[in-house]
Amino acid sequence: MPGFFTGKKVVVTGGAGFLGSFLVEKLREHGAEDVVVPRRRDYDLTRREAAARLYAEAGPDILFHLAATVGGIGANRANPGRFFYENMAMGLHIIDEARRYGRLQKLIVVGTTCSYPKYTPTPFRTADLWNGYPEETNAPYGIAKKALLVMAQGYREQYGLKSIYLIPANLYGPRDSFDLEMGHVIPALIRKFLEAKETGAASVTVWGSGEVSREFLYVEDAAEGIVLAAERYDGPEPVNLGTGEEIRISELVQEIRALVGYQGQVVWDRAQPDGQPRRCLSTECAERAFGFRAATDLRVGLLRTIEWYGIQTAQAQASSLR
Ligand SMILES: NC(=O)c1ccc[n+]([C@@H]2O[C@H](COP(=O)([O-])OP(=O)(O)OC[C@H]3O[C@@H](n4cnc5c(N)ncnc54)[C@H](OP(=O)(O)O)[C@@H]3O)[C@@H](O)[C@H]2O)c1
Repeated sequence: MPGFFTGKKVVVTGGAGFLGSFLVEKLREHGAEDVVVPRRRDYDLTRREAAARLYAEAGPDILFHLAATVGGIGANRANPGRFFYENMAMGLHIIDEARRYGRLQKLIVVGTTCSYPKYTPTPFRTADLWNGYPEETNAPYGIAKKALLVMAQGYREQYGLKSIYLIPANLYGPRDSFDLEMGHVIPALIRKFLEAKETGAASVTVWGSGEVSREFLYVEDAAEGIVLAAERYDGPEPVNLGTGEEIRISELVQEIRALVGYQGQVVWDRAQPDGQPRRCLSTECAERAFGFRAATDLRVGLLRTIEWYGIQTAQAQASSLR
């Protein structure tokens, strides 16, 4: 919608993170001139005082809430309490202080596909969000984020707070975390295969059975979807952001192995958890409500991600030799 952001002050919590950094770029492409990115070191949003100070100091018209404590299965399993508390606390403070601030024109809350019940029929529809408990390894994270949907809907009803709630699929792309402990499946696989290729390792060990499925949304597409929703959608119901395309982890592993050019074996570590059995979002609502369709083919997105990571590691090696 041309001009939607013109003259508006926009705040993006988590705007220096993986998705946030692309969202800030997209917002500028869509005409936002005044975008503020609060950092955790200045505004620790797990503290109410910091959220209140953010509204008072930045004076936003529109606020995107992306700040979160996130990670892959390993990180979720190691930190169930912290993942619940920090995600819950940040959202509680951002939403409640929005009401106290009273001048916010729109709040966009970004949720997660981890909120869906473990055995949701595919494609996941938002009507199924409450039909069961999430997959155990990511339940604290998923439930904390889902509680914010209920809070935002309650605040809309009682206080007239204008907010929307979006549920992106698993994301991937450049600038993701390639930390093997904290990171998600795609960056972990890229890193493992590249390192194995470099060292000539005979095999790479991958977590789980490979039999589960996932859907992956390229990070720039997710950012575009969030901006379109902010411009065009005002409903109380949550909306999925995905591609609608499901891939088995075993196929994903072979695809990344081939793109990286690693010739060795893949060993499945079945003692490690698989996570949710299947994941794939229904995309109809996002298309109908605000015209969003994911544009990037998985192979193209993977190639861009591998290329980006290759450049980062080459630069890091060059600077360590200086
Ligand atoms: N990555 C995915 O696959 C995925 C999928 C679906 C939904 N999402 C959602 O998308 C959003 C962004 O995820 P991401 O992967 O981009 O995460 P990320 O790269 O880890 O970025 C998270 C950001 O949150 C900020 N943050 C964390 N704790 C904070 C605190 N206590 N106070 C203030 N800011 C804090 C960090 O700020 P600093 O940089 O200042 O430390 C960081 O920039 C999250 O809401 C996540 O749930 C992600």
